[in-house]
Amino acid sequence: MTAGSPSPPKNIVLIGFMGSGKSSIARELSGALGYPMIDTDALIVERAGKPIRDIFAQEGEDAFREMESTVLRELEESLPPHHIIATGGGIIGRSANREILRRMGFVVWLVVSAEEIIKRTENSRERPLLNNNNQMETINRLLDERRELYRATAHQEIETDELTFPEITTGILESARYFFSE
Ligand code: S3P
Repeated sequence: MTAGSPSPPKNIVLIGFMGSGKSSIARELSGALGYPMIDTDALIVERAGKPIRDIFAQEGEDAFREMESTVLRELEESLPPHHIIATGGGIIGRSANREILRRMGFVVWLVVSAEEIIKRTENSRERPLLNNNNQMETINRLLDERRELYRATAHQEIETDELTFPEITTGILESARYFFSE
């Protein structure tokens, strides 16, 4: 950190596609560091009083994205440092969200292949964007739309397909220590 510029808050923020392991890794990091974990999807569900699939079905994706941006803005205003923050896979779609995420702390992109995403999400009905007959095409399209946005938001990228959760967690902890000590 150069003289005069403020230190970033010591949060670790996880971004990445659906099924990239954000919530699981957030739990591991939370256990390792003793920092509380926050999940933006869980905050939206709590506030809306219904599951994400019902928000999409009854109010539409745009309404969900508004809730997501509001939750993120409020989180930045109210959040003390030292938290692990897991986010929804599409949160990087809006530039205002990307800026907030980078201000909130060390941002890690959990990179995952389309094949691995299919394996991890095919039995879940909780992700409305993947509830269709051509999941592979949807995943590839969304990955193409989002890849550069994840990249532009993240301080660190981790290819996760071949790694265990503890390996990913250890990598993040080492990089975060370096990031916050600069
Ligand atoms: C979404 C990802 C979901 C959830 C919503 C939309 C997306 O979160 O926010 O279904 O647009 O990729 P996870 O990435 O935690 O599944």
